[in-house]
Amino acid sequence: IEQDVIVSRPIVIGHRGASGEAPENTRASFKLAAEQGSHMVELDIHMSEDGKLIVCHDDTLDRTTDISGAIRSLHSDVIRGADAGSWFSPAFAGEQVPFLEEVYDLLPKHVEINVEVKDSGGALFDEVLLNYLRGDNRMDRTVVSSFDHKLLHRLKQAEPELRIGLLYAADLIHHASYAALLETEVWSLHPEHSLIGADDAMDALAAGLRIYPFTANHPADWDPLISIGVTGIITDYPARLKEHLERS
Ligand code: G3P
Ligand code: MG
Repeated sequence: IEQDVIVSRPIVIGHRGASGEAPENTRASFKLAAEQGSHMVELDIHMSEDGKLIVCHDDTLDRTTDISGAIRSLHSDVIRGADAGSWFSPAFAGEQVPFLEEVYDLLPKHVEINVEVKDSGGALFDEVLLNYLRGDNRMDRTVVSSFDHKLLHRLKQAEPELRIGLLYAADLIHHASYAALLETEVWSLHPEHSLIGADDAMDALAAGLRIYPFTANHPADWDPLISIGVTGIITDYPARLKEHLERS
């Protein structure tokens, strides 16, 4: 008897919003990603000097705003005064660097959020992040990822309900086995997109893991991921990916 292999279509995950078309990690970018039909958005967080969760990729504001300095040494009032849109295009002048809570407030409830922890700063950070996510059913629409797997393990020990996602750009021998090494429930794997093949994907999915490769922006990169059945694809171009999925 021949069995059909049912490969479900990956969900669309907007990387830093729709960062190919709007300034990354801004409200405009997240709004656009949602309008384009993203099921989830990915964002990056740091903590400011006064303990606020700030959405920005780099450790400093230098590349993506009109001011400079390390986020961890700046007061949020100063960060909020920065223009995070003009570097991308004058059409986005005046976009602010968002607080994490603003992104949750902005997005419709059906849009899930992948919070990538960049610079954690330690215990205070853990407390601030977990306290925020514990409120208002946020845990159910969130997966917290990081390249720092010790940090994820620590967060998971502190809050067993938390969904954690392992980010990695290493060519692992066996992806599902690596996740099992953490000895705590891992929600998802977030490999660099070229590093996961069919066998690893099959084993990871069979182990109950979701697979969200990053950051794939072209059909030539999407097609192999679609055919191995990944759960979602992180992309700077959610609209293009959605269209591609509808055609394929
Ligand atoms: O979370 C996926 C991806 O964002 C990881 O790399 O440097 O773009 O944050 P990076
Ligand atoms: Mg990221």
